[in-house]
Amino acid sequence: MLDFDPLTFDLQSVPEGYLADPYAVLAALRNVAPVHENPDGTYVLTRHADLTQVYRDPRLWSSDKRADFAPKFGNSPLFEHHTTSVVFTDPPDHTRIRKLFQSAFTPRALAAFAPRITALVDTYLDRMEDQGGMELVEEFSFRLPIEVVCDMLGVPREDRELIRDWANAILTALEPKLTQAQLETGNRAVEDFKTYLRDLIAHRRANPEGAKPTEVLTVLADAEADGERLTELELLHQCIFMLNAGHETSTNMISHGVHEMLRHPDQIAALNSDPGLIDPMVEEVLRYQAPIQINNRRSTAETMLGDMPIPAGTTVHMMINAANRDPAQFPDPDRFDIARAPNRHLSFGLGVHICAGNTLARLEARIAFERLFARFPRLALVAPLKVAPRLRFREIEKLEISVN
Ligand code: HEM
Repeated sequence: MLDFDPLTFDLQSVPEGYLADPYAVLAALRNVAPVHENPDGTYVLTRHADLTQVYRDPRLWSSDKRADFAPKFGNSPLFEHHTTSVVFTDPPDHTRIRKLFQSAFTPRALAAFAPRITALVDTYLDRMEDQGGMELVEEFSFRLPIEVVCDMLGVPREDRELIRDWANAILTALEPKLTQAQLETGNRAVEDFKTYLRDLIAHRRANPEGAKPTEVLTVLADAEADGERLTELELLHQCIFMLNAGHETSTNMISHGVHEMLRHPDQIAALNSDPGLIDPMVEEVLRYQAPIQINNRRSTAETMLGDMPIPAGTTVHMMINAANRDPAQFPDPDRFDIARAPNRHLSFGLGVHICAGNTLARLEARIAFERLFARFPRLALVAPLKVAPRLRFREIEKLEISVN
């Protein structure tokens, strides 16, 4: 039983039990106040229809975070990063930068990654078999996406741990509440990451013959968008963003997928008797445990959400986790059903900022789940999972599994 008054909900200080089950807390909130004014004057949105409306109108709902981040980050490397990366810009800058990503994410460019993803997955599964199980996060779900996104950017193998630590520090700085230590670690990470990438880009420019045809670093570094190159800072921050966006989210998608299937053995049996369910399964995993739980926008003019007037300059928290469980969109929303159709989850957002890497993430998930569950139908959980204490990213820290 939840013991809190939904009308007092505060995203800066969530009720006990939120981390274990944000969905129940937000369902209670949606029932009484679907457009809820947070004590700090921001609004918390929990209805699928409201999130859809906001995503679809980038002129009225800006992604530019300068006003939000100035008080939080001051004039700092974190401010520079989070206000320059593509996800936090509005058109026309957004359109110019996003265009540069397109060539890296065409189905043809991505098809080139399928054999590499399959080979990586099989290596992890061989190890799993040899060991009789594994701690899945460290040995599989973190490894796969970081290998793929680092291949995409042309980051050498030996540097991949560095990327993980920097990414974690930079993304943690997006949490609604921050400690001074987290801020300092985040700022240091942005600076170290920039220095690292400057060297990497200089090396690539000096040795262009070493680049793979799919390497995004070269594409971005050489790109001209309407005759306009990215500035050096823009280039560095897009690379940082891609490396961050491209692994942490996918890591959690894989961990949650395995965890949910293990919690629902009937769904493993369903998949094994009908392998055609793999695509809807991936969508259901994304819906059920959205790796990014919250997006934000700021109103550029006075407007309405449902019957609630919203002043200009208001920040809204778009609770993807809640929208993905909205009974107005998903019948029996708390049921994990790998055959669910239609499944219009918002885990990749929607509209002009829709996740540029969504096809890649889906490809990783499809290959990982397909091969894992076909090879080990008797997977089991060895210990209860550990969820990290973060609100924006739903992160599993540890997942011990055995294969027999
Ligand atoms: C399960 C994995 C992933 C999830 C859940 C996810 C989620 C999201 C979401 C919700 C957004 C929209 C943010 C907004 O509208 O404010 C986004 C944007 C983006 N994502 Fe992903 N993402 C994933 C994987 C990836 C991967 C693998 C890459 C690249 C390798 C990537 C690259 C991007 C980029 C570049 C954007 C910015 C797009 C823009 O602003 O136009 N993502 N992602």
